[in-house]
Amino acid sequence: MCDEAFHSRLPRRTPHVDCRRHGDQPRASPEPAELHRCRTDAPVHAGHEVGTPFDGYRDLAGGWCRNRLDIPIEPLGAVDRRQRGPCNVRAFAHRHLEQISDVVSPDISPDDYSGGARGCAAATAPEQGPQRGLLRTEIKFHRRVSKIEPATAASCGSRVHWPVIAKRRDSSPVSVVASLICWPRILRYFMAQSDSGIGNVTPNAELVQMAMSYSRSYMLCAAARLGIADALGDEVRSVDHLAETCQADVDALYRLLRALASIGITEETTPKHFRLTPFGRPLRRDVAQSAWPAVVFWADLLADNWSLLTDCIRTGKPASQVRDPNVPSRWSQDPEADSIFRAVMGTAPAEDYAPIARAWDFSRANVVADLGGGGGALILAVLGLHPYLRGMLVDLEASVEAAKARFADEEVSSRCKLLAADLTQSVPAGADVYMLKHVLHGRRDAEAITILKNCRAVIPANGSLLVIEFILPPLISQADPHLEGHLMSDLNMLAVTGGRERSEHEWRTLLEAAGFRLAGVFPVGNDVGILEAKPAQA
Ligand SMILES: C[S@@+](CC[C@H](N)C(=O)[O-])C[C@H]1O[C@@H](n2cnc3c(N)ncnc32)[C@H](O)[C@@H]1O
Repeated sequence: MCDEAFHSRLPRRTPHVDCRRHGDQPRASPEPAELHRCRTDAPVHAGHEVGTPFDGYRDLAGGWCRNRLDIPIEPLGAVDRRQRGPCNVRAFAHRHLEQISDVVSPDISPDDYSGGARGCAAATAPEQGPQRGLLRTEIKFHRRVSKIEPATAASCGSRVHWPVIAKRRDSSPVSVVASLICWPRILRYFMAQSDSGIGNVTPNAELVQMAMSYSRSYMLCAAARLGIADALGDEVRSVDHLAETCQADVDALYRLLRALASIGITEETTPKHFRLTPFGRPLRRDVAQSAWPAVVFWADLLADNWSLLTDCIRTGKPASQVRDPNVPSRWSQDPEADSIFRAVMGTAPAEDYAPIARAWDFSRANVVADLGGGGGALILAVLGLHPYLRGMLVDLEASVEAAKARFADEEVSSRCKLLAADLTQSVPAGADVYMLKHVLHGRRDAEAITILKNCRAVIPANGSLLVIEFILPPLISQADPHLEGHLMSDLNMLAVTGGRERSEHEWRTLLEAAGFRLAGVFPVGNDVGILEAKPAQA
């Protein structure tokens, strides 16, 4: 039976093919209100998890997959870049299931599968209006179903988990002939899977896919280092032209450009002519909020340390101490490395830090100091929300110099002092609230305690120290994309600085060692937590 109730909640743009009830009649796309209801009523599936809303931004970080059908996300509520809203992934998965099976088979109930969908909200500049995105689905069945062939799934660019999908066994001569005809399609299915290895049919494809996930990172790194996005600008350019501008081998560059097209960074408009997509645009160095420094930082400068992770784990030492002394680090070879670091740290728009500024009550504070505040995004967010407050941005001299240009343009700059200081030596006095965001995770315990003691030396008796960091749970019992990010950061600290991410217990221990007591913990969404520390009584 066709599940009328469930279908009626789904956004429909495709004909309800072959469904006995609805025949071939396409239904109109639902109104936004209906979509909203659909989103809130129906449980949704994101990535491989059940029950969490799809977040284009986060999934984008995990990987961008092109669906050959290019299902637009926009009609289901994708939003502009700043909002990054959820959309109804279950509905997407279900709709894709229709396309794969030509019909949502009457004998497949929504409970039979966990529809996965992974997509991207293809970036558009805010002025270009709402985001569009592309979606790819992964549909996992919990029972054997008769309707779907992987080959058909592949032809929709989707992925149906093969081992549990089976046509009912039928040994009639007609069926045997039919299955022989099907074989080339099934073969094409495996060949078509971008994630089954380079032309290989591998068991444990998902694990192998994880092992290969460096490829996108390196492609982006090459694109950034060669300056491809800047060479493209807003134009369509020939490979020959680009090779000359980027000083690259023509054929090799063509191969990179078409691979970049396959992940949505570029688009091949006519053979061997490319342009940048809206998604790839932030790779340009000359655009506001350019992603270029972050791409180089992660995909080149830090990836260099990650390549030594095995030895870091073996020895417990950062990459700088396990590296062959005759092989210089990428960082040491790059004259721009320090400025790239500064361009990445605390330079996001202040709005991105507003959730932190709202998560703690600053109403009784007079002067707030952001220690190691980088580009000043957090102190700007705090001062922006509290017009009576005065602030201090404290960082190493080069970072403070770099931040000056930004503060010159900010309305709040008259209320904020920019001070150069080495926190391992001393902390400037004069504030009643001190913040340390993502500074201590870069430090070993002994160094972190030194910085905390320097804070203790200047903080008034009724002052507060806000340590803003990831707070690891005591147990990691299941896969969790947020935690993956935090634990990735933990390994990043191990390999790059020798620091670490910490649990609440570990933060408390550090604070107590420096003469503080932990007075409260304020979570900021799924991301960081604010650990409020008060000076312990002497
Ligand atoms: C990981 S970044 C965090 C930036 C910012 N707080 C944020 O969360 O966006 C660490 C910051 O601490 C600063 N820093 C590192 N060591 C420092 C020191 N000894 N004295 C002052 N600042 C330091 C760095 O320059 C950098 O801006």
